[in-house]
Amino acid sequence: MEKFPGKIKTSVFISGRGSNLYNLINFSKKKVSPISINLIISNNKKAKGINYAKSNKIPYFITNFENHRKSEKQIIKRLKKFNIKLICLAGFMKILSSNFIKSFNNPILNIHPSLLPKYKGLNTHQRALKNREKFSGATVHLVNSKLDSGKVIIQKKVRILKKDDEKTLKQKVLRVEHQIYPQAIKKYYSNP
Ligand code: GRF
Repeated sequence: MEKFPGKIKTSVFISGRGSNLYNLINFSKKKVSPISINLIISNNKKAKGINYAKSNKIPYFITNFENHRKSEKQIIKRLKKFNIKLICLAGFMKILSSNFIKSFNNPILNIHPSLLPKYKGLNTHQRALKNREKFSGATVHLVNSKLDSGKVIIQKKVRILKKDDEKTLKQKVLRVEHQIYPQAIKKYYSNP
């Protein structure tokens, strides 16, 4: 018997702490969620987030990407096995090749801690503070072959205060990330 019949089978890719994964698992259990989480992928065997896979009895697969092509091939095999129709990248620190994106041939979403197109890539908070931005925020977008450049689904701002440093800004943005990832998934599937 399937655990969540009728929901879109989703795989979440992580590299570390997994707070977005935790948030998406909780969301997926709600009736309003269009997705179920059926597979978790990590490139890092020490990722804390793997514990959420274990405690929720969700299958997981770890591959270190030392050989990028090989890791992607192994992942594709598992995505097929579990009939995955959506990938949610959540703090996943590897860049997926255009070959991978093509062979998956289903939507891939990512959450990024900035107001894209500003501050693609790493160290977003540091750069936003250095440039004395008044706002930062988070973006959920579709993944294409260019880094942090696919169509934006949802974006939410946070105000940067004078007293903010990297740590406080990161916390504020993370709170927003946890709000908008489920919202973006609902939005995407109500009007893909
Ligand atoms: C998040 O800020 C995400 O936007 C960024 O990496 C962080 C991952 O956090 N790309 P977590 O692993 O979901 O807790």
